[in-house]
Amino acid sequence: MAKTQTVSFNLNGKAVKADVEPRELLIHTLREKLAHTGPHIGCETSHCGACTVDVDGRSLKSCTVLSVQCDGSDLLTVEGLEQGGELHAVQQAFHEAHGLQCGFCTPGMLIRAYRLLKENPNPSEEEIRYGIAGNLCRCTGYQNIVKAVKLAAERLAATA
Ligand code: FES
Ligand code: FES
Repeated sequence: MAKTQTVSFNLNGKAVKADVEPRELLIHTLREKLAHTGPHIGCETSHCGACTVDVDGRSLKSCTVLSVQCDGSDLLTVEGLEQGGELHAVQQAFHEAHGLQCGFCTPGMLIRAYRLLKENPNPSEEEIRYGIAGNLCRCTGYQNIVKAVKLAAERLAATA
């Protein structure tokens, strides 16, 4: 077995540690060592975005980054969006606008939508489509995903 090292993260607001191999991908650490199975493994080649997580305020495909590169980082996964039993506005909007079918892409889509709306609180349809271009959905045709992001933007603006 390869030598491991201990990495520390602030994961969804909680300090956690994991022993990882130098070659270990963040998605594997999250799912297999930290019991965060919200981020999905789709392609493992940085195409599909199912594994997207927020790292220090940026959307990152966790199949493309080593856990050791994220040592000391603030991580947000889909599990961290809901607060105190309340769905985040993006989760509620995806639910109401039917922004999902099978749900496989959804954890990555939600976390990307969360960051997209932080980067641009009032995106046009074109900007939403561009903003989620790294997240593939094989079910929905994207129409309702775009509607859901728009709805979330309106809700967040109303409560700002
Ligand atoms: S599993 Fe990471 S981009 Fe597809
Ligand atoms: S809802 Fe099935 S892949 Fe997006």
